[in-house]
Amino acid sequence: MAPVRRKRVGVLISGRGSNLAALLAASRDAAFPAEIALVISNLANAGGLAVAEAHRIPALTIAHRDFPRDRARHEAAITTELERHGIEIVCLAGYMRLLTPFLVTRFAGRMLNIHPSLLPAFPGLDTHARALAAGVKLHGCTVHLVTERMDEGPILAQAAVPVRPGDTPNLLGARVLAQEHLLYPLALRLFASALPGTAAAETAALCNPVSD
Ligand code: GRF
Repeated sequence: MAPVRRKRVGVLISGRGSNLAALLAASRDAAFPAEIALVISNLANAGGLAVAEAHRIPALTIAHRDFPRDRARHEAAITTELERHGIEIVCLAGYMRLLTPFLVTRFAGRMLNIHPSLLPAFPGLDTHARALAAGVKLHGCTVHLVTERMDEGPILAQAAVPVRPGDTPNLLGARVLAQEHLLYPLALRLFASALPGTAAAETAALCNPVSD
């Protein structure tokens, strides 16, 4: 059987890039159906840029500050680079800008995000503190398709962790982050395999509330 062509993935970041690192590590396996072909940050000091450079992946800063009050032009610049690099799938990995319909539509059905909660619970920011305040016993992370409404697209995969007595947002967040690093590569693997021209579609559900 002919090897499946690896899908070209662009990763958008704003921060330290630990999820980017997890995707890069997974994609080093030749059997992984996607390759990280471009990393774009909106912040020049994002730690993830150094992660990309260490892996010799093209990494660019397209600073939103260079496009004051003009989200559309900022996203047009991002789109130009994504298209110039032949990007087929976009992964948001800690990208801290709200997207306009322009970019979302351009990559409709081909843009993934990882969010640090079990959506639809706790969309938005400060998810770990809000989960603790709500008294939930299970928390976790979600990989979903990006739509025009923030943190609301179809869910592709989730991983759950227990909330432990004495947890702080940092402790709980670290437990969730360890699962993010497993979940995002898993979700991308299944998603990229299922894009047209490759194997049949699958969905993922990873639920391991007692295994962290
Ligand atoms: C992660 O918690 C992710 O779920 C959220 O932003 C954080 C990014 O962390 N969207 P990192 O930059 O991947 O380390």
